[in-house]
Amino acid sequence: MTISAPVHNLQEIGKRAAGEAAVDLIHDGARVGLGTGSTVKYFLLALGERVKAGLHVHGVPTSRETAELAKRLHIPLLPEEEEWNLDVAVDGADQVDPQFQLMKGGGGALLREKIVAAAARRFIVLVDHTKCVRVLGKPMPLPVEVTPFGWVQSAKHLQAFGGPPRLRTRAGTMFQTDGGNAVLDVPVDEIEDPADLEVRLNRIPGVVENGLFVNRTSTLIIGTPDGVEIQHDSSVAR
Ligand code: 5RP
Repeated sequence: MTISAPVHNLQEIGKRAAGEAAVDLIHDGARVGLGTGSTVKYFLLALGERVKAGLHVHGVPTSRETAELAKRLHIPLLPEEEEWNLDVAVDGADQVDPQFQLMKGGGGALLREKIVAAAARRFIVLVDHTKCVRVLGKPMPLPVEVTPFGWVQSAKHLQAFGGPPRLRTRAGTMFQTDGGNAVLDVPVDEIEDPADLEVRLNRIPGVVENGLFVNRTSTLIIGTPDGVEIQHDSSVAR
């Protein structure tokens, strides 16, 4: 009897391929932003192996979850309160379009992820093939991090950009980001101009950051069950 592999497993193979390929782009002595999520986990595991074998790196984690894994893998971390001067940041994405624009925040780490990506000279994005879309947006809602104070007011403003925002919850209560904020998932249509939307959303009082990452990706690694495809965006100037 032939049973075709569930899509979930093929996706996992792609995630792993992308994560493991990224580690070859990390040079000795690099200062590295460490993203968050199930794809980046494979990168961290591979990086941990290299560190064990003698590679010297320092990392800045984008979440507590990543910090804990990095510590377990003996990847040295830089203090939060110093200038990081990162050579590269490596992170996943929920959607990527042909112009390398991203939708992120599915895991709720978007603010820290954007701060770390902006602090790095190169931004390497790891996705499996299922994350590649023609246009960002629908059917995925856009994650927006907001202050818990007045979140209902922020939601009211955000509704103008799509359907009624949904407050993200965990175990029946308000999901809290590592920074203590809330996340609103805003149903959006296909996003025609992500650059414009990214800026307009951040003008709303109470909005701390949104999940659009525009003109940041310098290298995209797409993992598939057959291997990886690596694309570079030469137009990203830092
Ligand atoms: C977390 C993120 C993640 O990078 C994104 O959700 C992708 O995660 P995964 O690799 O688990 O699919 O933006 O806020």
